[in-house]
Parts: sequence; C-alpha cells; structure tokens
Amino acid sequence: MEIQLTWLGHATWKIEAGSHTILLDPFLNDSPVAPVKAAEVDADVILVSHGHFDHVADVAEIANRCGAHVVAIYEIAQWFQTNHAVESATGMNVGGTFALPLEGIDASVKMTPAVHSSQLPDGSPGGVAAGFILTIEDKKIYFACDTALFSDMQLIGRVGIDVAVLPIGDLFTMGIEDSVLATGFIDPKQVLPTHYNTWPPIEADTPKWSERIKTETSADPVVLQPGETHVI
Ligand code: NI
Ligand code: MN
Repeated sequence: MEIQLTWLGHATWKIEAGSHTILLDPFLNDSPVAPVKAAEVDADVILVSHGHFDHVADVAEIANRCGAHVVAIYEIAQWFQTNHAVESATGMNVGGTFALPLEGIDASVKMTPAVHSSQLPDGSPGGVAAGFILTIEDKKIYFACDTALFSDMQLIGRVGIDVAVLPIGDLFTMGIEDSVLATGFIDPKQVLPTHYNTWPPIEADTPKWSERIKTETSADPVVLQPGETHVI
C-alpha cells in the first residue's frame, strides 16, 4: 500500500494511506512555517507525542471538527477529554501497541520512549514524552518525536524500520550530530529530518545533515520543504 508522508512544518506530519488520514502533533495556526491552517486539515486519527504547545496546539480543534480519534499517553488523552471536550480518545503508555480504528487497513502504533519533558500548556502534568512506531500494512515508520539520542534506539531498529523521522534542530531535541548517530542505531532505509527551521534557535543546516547521513550511515536522507510529500 502506498503511504503519503507530508511535512506540515515544525513537528507536524500528515500520513495518508488509502482513504485515511493520520496527523501527528498538529501545530499549524501559530506555526510560522505551516503551509496550512488547522481548519484546512482533516484527520481520522491524531497522534500526540507529548504535552508541549508546539505539539498539542491544534489537536482539539481538528479532533472536535472531524471527530478524529486522539491517541496519546494516558494523562494527555484524559486532559483532552476532560478539558477540551474531545469525545474519542485512547490513552496508552510507553511500550504498548494500539490498533488504529481505520476501516479496511491494518494500522497500529507502538508507543516508544523519548527523552524529553511533557508539561501541558496549562501546567497540567502530561505524563512522559513519547515517540511512535507507526505500522501500516507491511511498512514501518518511526517517529522519534522530541527526544535526545538514547542507545535503546538500537532495539527500536531491530523491528526493521523503513522510514525514520528524527529531530535535528538541537536546543530542545537532538541536533545534527546525534541524529546521525541515531540513524546508525535505527538503521532505516530512509531518514527524514523534523523539528527544525521553525524559529531561529532551531535552525539547522540540512545540506550538511544530508551529506553526513550519506557518508556515515546506510540510510538515504530525504529533506522536504513544508507542504511537500514523500511517497513510501
Ligand atoms: Ni517538546
Ligand atoms: Mn517540540
């Protein structure tokens, strides 16, 4: 099955498979680089990696308009249901797998560890930060989400990752140096950068990153501009 992976700027990704759309960490209305506004995006499922504003900002608006099912760590799923009237949500935790409620395709997410913090915008505790391995039919996409490098990424790679999406912007997450090491740990076929060039403190030199991925790992780097789509 063909999967379309579209970068909506910052750490927001749209994954389309068949007639279904999955959104990861929608941050559109207040993002200086998003090519669309929240009102222009539809979703069946919204994955949320952690509680920071640049990951949760537009979740409730899109979920409540589309009836999308929100998948997040337990504390964040509950926060959306209690404080933002989100009707359909699944709270899970790190290590668990959830079969996505998408008719006609076999899709699931496994929640992976991430080394990062996770307070929600109103100060509520957001559990711990997480990443996701998204499996759609025979393809596996690993979204590390906001994280530092950690050596257990080697275990994540053992399941056979087709595409890894790794932060490279530094300061709040790993930067270029550690994302090259992470790519070696995960050993995906392709790797895409995320969480960079949104604001000056997380600017990243993508030509330099691509060159290092090509020479120091066996993965192919794929750099998108906001709004561009990569087909897997
Ligand atoms: Ni964060
Ligand atoms: Mn972030």
